[in-house]
Amino acid sequence: MKIAFFDSGIGGLSVLAEALRRFSEAEFLYFADEDHVPYGTKSRVEIVRLSLDAVGFLVSRGADGVVVACNTATSAAISELRGAFSVPVIGMEPAVKLAADSFGARPTLLIATPLTIAGEKLARLVGRLECETWSLPLPRLVEFAQDLEFDSPAVRAYLWEELAKFELARLGSLVLGCTHFNYFKDVLREILPSHVRIIDGIDGTLNRLSSELGGGLKLARGEDLSVQAAKFNASDEVEFDTNSSAQTYKFDAEGGNESCVGKNIAGGRSESGGKIYYPNGNSVEYFYSGRALDAAQLRKVELFLKRLDAMREIS
Ligand code: DGL
Repeated sequence: MKIAFFDSGIGGLSVLAEALRRFSEAEFLYFADEDHVPYGTKSRVEIVRLSLDAVGFLVSRGADGVVVACNTATSAAISELRGAFSVPVIGMEPAVKLAADSFGARPTLLIATPLTIAGEKLARLVGRLECETWSLPLPRLVEFAQDLEFDSPAVRAYLWEELAKFELARLGSLVLGCTHFNYFKDVLREILPSHVRIIDGIDGTLNRLSSELGGGLKLARGEDLSVQAAKFNASDEVEFDTNSSAQTYKFDAEGGNESCVGKNIAGGRSESGGKIYYPNGNSVEYFYSGRALDAAQLRKVELFLKRLDAMREIS
């Protein structure tokens, strides 16, 4: 069973990273629409068109299910996507309900893209909640992430300035309503009072994926991934660095006839497709707007997954 993840850029890797931990023996596809990122400052009509193209591509590559790992594309285009394709399409919505149910005695602050915040879908969702919900668009955070600027003075200054518009001491939780924001959990944690919980909504999305696909996805054993990486190493004679976890991999550039391991990816381009094999028997084929990633781009994906791994425990 092939499951595809789609985002405007590198944000959806946060959902994929968790899927790599949770599931085993799965074939994943990842599509980042790098030619058109950011989505959050475009019109709804444009996002519908781009999302239909992206999911169409993934279905043509054999996807049996698609996770829209992008709150903005979900908000703008989920009904059109479900109408256009027969495979299950799982959307991603800001977890404001979870926040309200768990910490609703205090207000929730939702941070997301301008398009998600202006969307009718969010208005309906928030309208059903009893909890006081504030919202803040943070479009520059998407740009910072895409520029690989995760923890810089400029990022800190931007977040301090934007968050200072709210009475943070009153908050119960901060909801990350954009998958790109997962890269900034450490900076956000530093700025927020310690009682404020950070909620990303990734678990809820993967729970829905599991239930929509019935038994289609196998759960990984409940072991620590570093243990699994070591085992994989022993049985397959593949060298893994057991200190890094989900991002340890074997790289297989089909077109270039290269087979490289872990951090020792050889130079040269893969002309027809790059695939990474992970512990748990999972693999991912990565695409930027329909083009398979080359070796240098795959090395960057490793860095993103490492950063996300470090952000994972922060809540
Ligand atoms: N990562 C996307 C989201 O979750 C969108 C970011 C963007 O392209 O503006 O909303």
